[in-house]
Amino acid sequence: MANDAEMNRFIDNLMGKMTLEEKIGQLNLLPGNDVTTGAVMNSPLAQLIAECKLGAVLNVNGLDKVRELQEIAVHKSRLGIPLLFGLDVIHGNVTIMPIPLAQSCTWNLNLIESGAVVAAKEATAQGINWNFSPMVDVSVDPRWGRVAEGGGEDAMLSGLVGAAMIRGYQGDFSNENMLACLKHFALYGASESGRDYNTVDMSRLRMWNQYMQSYEIALSAEPATIMSSFNVVDYVPATANKWLINDVLREKWGYKGMLVTDYASISEMTDHGIGDLKTNAARAMIAGTDMDMCSNAYSKHLAALHDEGIVADADIDRACRRVLTAKYKLGLFSDPFRFCNPKRLTTDIYTSENRKVARELAAQSFVLLKNNDNLLPLRKQGKIALIGPLADARNNMPGCWSTADRPELYSTLRECMQKELKGKAELLYSQGCNVYYSAAKQSAAAYTRNIPRVDDKEARNEALKIASCADVIVCAMGELAEMSGESASRADLSMPDAQMDLLKALASIGKPIVLLNFSGRPTVMSWESENIQSIMNVWYGGSETGDAICDVVFGKKSPCGRLTMTMPRSIGQIPIYYNYMNTGRPVGENQQKFHKYRSNYYDEFNDPLYHFGYGLTYSNIEYTDLSIEGENIRVKIKNTGAREATEVVQLYVHDVFASIVRPVKELKAFKRVTLAAGESQIVEFRLTPEMLSFRDANGNNVIEPGDFEIMVGPSSADKDLLKTTYKCKQPK
Ligand code: NOJ
Repeated sequence: MANDAEMNRFIDNLMGKMTLEEKIGQLNLLPGNDVTTGAVMNSPLAQLIAECKLGAVLNVNGLDKVRELQEIAVHKSRLGIPLLFGLDVIHGNVTIMPIPLAQSCTWNLNLIESGAVVAAKEATAQGINWNFSPMVDVSVDPRWGRVAEGGGEDAMLSGLVGAAMIRGYQGDFSNENMLACLKHFALYGASESGRDYNTVDMSRLRMWNQYMQSYEIALSAEPATIMSSFNVVDYVPATANKWLINDVLREKWGYKGMLVTDYASISEMTDHGIGDLKTNAARAMIAGTDMDMCSNAYSKHLAALHDEGIVADADIDRACRRVLTAKYKLGLFSDPFRFCNPKRLTTDIYTSENRKVARELAAQSFVLLKNNDNLLPLRKQGKIALIGPLADARNNMPGCWSTADRPELYSTLRECMQKELKGKAELLYSQGCNVYYSAAKQSAAAYTRNIPRVDDKEARNEALKIASCADVIVCAMGELAEMSGESASRADLSMPDAQMDLLKALASIGKPIVLLNFSGRPTVMSWESENIQSIMNVWYGGSETGDAICDVVFGKKSPCGRLTMTMPRSIGQIPIYYNYMNTGRPVGENQQKFHKYRSNYYDEFNDPLYHFGYGLTYSNIEYTDLSIEGENIRVKIKNTGAREATEVVQLYVHDVFASIVRPVKELKAFKRVTLAAGESQIVEFRLTPEMLSFRDANGNNVIEPGDFEIMVGPSSADKDLLKTTYKCKQPK
């Protein structure tokens, strides 16, 4: 790879030959229609490319098409500048990984990176060289469907997950790597009411302390590109927000890469009510937005804005240089067809190696929420009834946000169980119900998922019949893929009605039930948690879900996922998150009753149903002997159960007395440790000044002397944590 000086010389030379129109052309990004991720546009791509009016395309699928367009760019346009091909490869390409939220529940950054390596390998084999991933938007509102795409409610963890993905996608920019695009800058996850694209408004202190760190941490992995968000920040849409893009991203954080808008975000500023397309093209450019996705704002108006002296040469040059730099880094100028090798279509896609990574990621992402009487793992014996509309739903397997899936290649849970139990136990199956009673509701959510509509009564009777002659019932229920992801907000997070009723009817039979809850978000499972013996959240686990579920349900692997978003008891508790502030009238955790004049609800407890960081294994880990010596924190953990287990040891800090109010606890470090039955280990952490600091309203680190509570344990729940105090004598 050439050095920076060589690269700059090359780009200077190229830009020296470019007309203003050609430079503006590089800033234009338009879609093909092979994949739909926004309003459909019919742009004459080939013509625009030949005329140097397009710098990149998105949503083109298929190596032949990529090659065809790249040929035009390289051989038929005046300067032969190659194109970027962008796609949302959010959690795998043909081999589908679990959704990012599920991946974050593994707390296994190396494995997440391996998943991203596979995604990049498969996508680049099909010509895609720019990935609109990772999303690291922190959200504390599971109504927002896009929580599926992020790394949960904690900014540090979410940033680390994003950084791992960036490393996996970009690697060393070989021809199996692609450009990452960190998104959405910024604060998209804080949309009011959990409604997608909605208004965001928050104090600077909250911004810096609860939300911005995820982007900052992910930036350490040097994403070549960043995407702006749809929402407003300080009442100005992010895409035109100079403070956000210039002052924070560029100047404070020193980001040098390219910034692309989200889909049509410049034209959407007219709906926001801040001017027409031309005004907003100027606002976006002046704020520091380099590439315009799907607004045709730069292509239509930048030249005139330049002639009128509103946008300077320097603005356009700067943006064009950043686009060319991204292309250069990707190696497109030395070989524009490096991602167009048809051989790789047969060697690199959906290989057993790739599937192995996906299966392992899926198995590690499942979170065992409840396991009364060690019902799980199940023995492969007797009669097992598999019931529910998601048990045999092939098209639902990939989950939301999969743009190149091939469901025909994937096995359903039913098929995998059948294979697993062959000759050992009898598998009985019934779909049992519709997803929703209402066909309209179901088809709105299931338009590509082909879940058959069944007669409610007949299906239920059939399910009850097989359930009553089974030894154990496994229910595969929950959300359809379309119920999460972009533009998939929900106002009710309980199990869809028809499934809930069936589950209740099954529970009344009195047989043991394992509920496998499929979801793209934390759902509300208060009834389930009281009435069902075993509950495992399996999210959308990707193409290998069926096998991965068998691995865990039948005990080949132990569950080890931990929640990265709090699970509420009821929707009225939302927003709900572990790193909240105490208030002046707290009720404390483990609240038993309503307290007048305290901060609580008349009709619900404050505590969540399941805490951030929580998840069971098939064993039991004991924590003892928490100590601090100097900066060294030590804790002893022992596997007191009968099986090997992987524990996620979590360290939280609380600033007891500060100049501003600080959260009751914040995650500062974690370690995954595998212990054989009976084994114990001393786990060590090093307390760094960073861990004791907070951000002021300008985003600068502040450390104040005084007491800090140090907490270590298997989840963020108070009852699970060992605690000690660290005295910080003076700021370092
Ligand atoms: C809109 C989404 O917000 C963004 O995340 C995605 O990358 C683009 N569409 C392109 O599909």
